[in-house]
Amino acid sequence: MTRSGYSAAYDAATSDPESFWGKAAKAIDWIAPPRQVFDPALGAYGRWFVGGLANVCHNAVDRHVDAGRGLQPAILYDSPVTGSQRTVTYAELMAETRTLGAMLRDLGIEKGDRVVIYMPMVPEAVIAMLACARIGAVHSVVFGGFAAAELASRIDDAQPKVVLSASCGVEPTRFVAYKPLLDQALAMAKHRPDACVILQRPQMEAELVPGRDHDWASLREKAAAGGRGVDCVPMGATDPLYILYTSGTTGKPKGVVRDTGGYMVALRWSMEGLYGAKPGEVFWSASDIGWVVGHSYIVYAPLLTGCTTVLYEGKPVGTPDAGAFWRVVEDYNVSVLFTAPTALRAIKKEDPRGRLIGGYDLSSLRALFLAGERADPDTVIWAGEKLGVPVVDHWWQTETGWAIAGNPMGLGLLPVKPGSTGVPMPGYRIDILDEGGHEVADGKMGSIAIKLPLPPGCLPTLWRQDQRFVESYLAEFPGYYKTADAGFRDADGQLFIMGRTDDIINVAGHRLSTGGMEEVLASHPDVAECAVIGVQDELKGEVPCGFVVLKSGVDRPPAAIEGEIVALVRERIGPVAAFRIAIAVARLPKTRSGKILRGTMKKIADATPWNMPATIDDPAVLDEIAAVLKQRGHAAGQTGSHAGGQAGGHAKRGAKPSAA
Ligand code: COA
Ligand code: AMP
Repeated sequence: MTRSGYSAAYDAATSDPESFWGKAAKAIDWIAPPRQVFDPALGAYGRWFVGGLANVCHNAVDRHVDAGRGLQPAILYDSPVTGSQRTVTYAELMAETRTLGAMLRDLGIEKGDRVVIYMPMVPEAVIAMLACARIGAVHSVVFGGFAAAELASRIDDAQPKVVLSASCGVEPTRFVAYKPLLDQALAMAKHRPDACVILQRPQMEAELVPGRDHDWASLREKAAAGGRGVDCVPMGATDPLYILYTSGTTGKPKGVVRDTGGYMVALRWSMEGLYGAKPGEVFWSASDIGWVVGHSYIVYAPLLTGCTTVLYEGKPVGTPDAGAFWRVVEDYNVSVLFTAPTALRAIKKEDPRGRLIGGYDLSSLRALFLAGERADPDTVIWAGEKLGVPVVDHWWQTETGWAIAGNPMGLGLLPVKPGSTGVPMPGYRIDILDEGGHEVADGKMGSIAIKLPLPPGCLPTLWRQDQRFVESYLAEFPGYYKTADAGFRDADGQLFIMGRTDDIINVAGHRLSTGGMEEVLASHPDVAECAVIGVQDELKGEVPCGFVVLKSGVDRPPAAIEGEIVALVRERIGPVAAFRIAIAVARLPKTRSGKILRGTMKKIADATPWNMPATIDDPAVLDEIAAVLKQRGHAAGQTGSHAGGQAGGHAKRGAKPSAA
């Protein structure tokens, strides 16, 4: 198809969304078809596919078995960190979800109950998600790199009846003992789940707490031996499928709610329209099931489409080398690969000439999709040259569940512009706004907002926090969803995403709140005040950097306190925060009204041009910050230069949109 494939689809979804999404919904097997494609009177901005009844596990698994795909691999598990591989066919996946569904029922789980899944990248984790969907339980997967306190806060918010976990995760250089982290989290949490089911991995077995913990394998054997299994239960299209917590602007994570019907319809459309993937093909999203990319494109979208999904428990480098991704593509005939730019940067760093790429047969690969953080044009161009396939950057958020903007491979690729995340996907009506909520001209930077209603697949609300949903996303620009991303649109309608307008940073494609980190720093007994900023990092895109002012009278060496602070963030938030830079300073730069000038500090650290803020209380403090950064080996920029035209005013990065 040509460009008109995109324009026609986009225009159809804009002019008659009910007809467009009503047609897309025909790809789903409904128990009862929706009464109404969209009801604007329900929820905060309307609800999709009202009155429809369907089951996600049926659509992702059983229906493919019924249609003759039983022997096709559903999951190809590839684990270089444990040296193992396993194929799970659709028929096996159906049997396993039936059995695990029965195990969960035995533990008292009914439709609407929550189940927390705290697991590494093993097939049982995917089976767990699907088994929950099968019986109508709402799962909440927590990423393994988070610390006990983060798990505890999610347990308290979701209030699960059961936690599914494993004895350990396997990182290239160590085993991560999950069970002690779970035990600590449960000791911290106010909520008490009735039971935990633990998958014992041979690399490191865990001790089970009598009366509370159950051995996964024993429960499974018992259920399987008794021939027990459950059928898929009918779910309302607007019933929640899962809760996925993501960083908010404070330490308290936001529970993004995903519905049943809209999510299936949007994902199914995206597989062919955006990714150009067909049933039967192999789709590999090299992410983790703990993130939204993993939920949508390791688990649900490929399986809803009847594709084979790859579940990769390894890294882009070091397991064993920078050719790992290309080995997997060759071994499994991957058609479409999706990963985060940081993974490619890691590969490029170790194999800049792409020597290892040449050693593999990549003829099955049609496209590489990138998301999760800004893709720097150098990396996009490098990957395109070395792989010889289109490299498509696309932009989305945990909240949206699928891409807001991209380059639609299935409808016909538009010109790939490195640095751009493509055009809005059907259903997303995007405006770039200034602080007053007025649209800005093409090429000008502003806050990116999506006109309500959001398309199917996007969050209807936050878990049991309807008011927080409205306040966080809908209040600032009436009639819009605020993405909290800043960027601009060029004359061809392509979007450029330049940074967040809030305190979220992106570390190796992982979304983290600097506000949350500041809460941890401030809890150290010797810290009077603090500021955490994200500073540029060649590999991870951004890494956090914390500044602390010590309380007067503290006479211990600052270096010791800095070390304690680094350890504290690892303990409270987790290794995933990659918090390694803590710097004690005499004072923090502030405005006359006492606001810490984090944006200027970031520019100094990144050596990007910055202006002396007119409202600064004492300009000398910025020189002190620059000096200390220089002393610690971090770049320090120059004052007095112009930072570029930021019409939005509150974008954090000093990008120059009008020059792009
Ligand atoms: N369970 C427990 N710990 C984990 C973990 C998990 N699932 N995932 C990561 N960690 C730990 C790592 O072991 C590391 O710990 P360390 O400080 O002891 O070394 C820390 O968290 C940071 O991990 P990571 O960000 O993965 O950094 P890394 O240096 O190990 O690897 C990359 C760097 C670029 C290879 C890696 O970040 C990567 O592959 N990123 C892709 C991200 C991605 O897919 N994002 C999803 C969005 S699409
Ligand atoms: P998450 O919710 O973890 O998926 O993170 C979402 C945030 O990551 C977005 O709000 C952006 O700030 C950033 N992001 C995701 N994809 C891209 C992209 N392709 N380009 C730039 N930033 C991105």
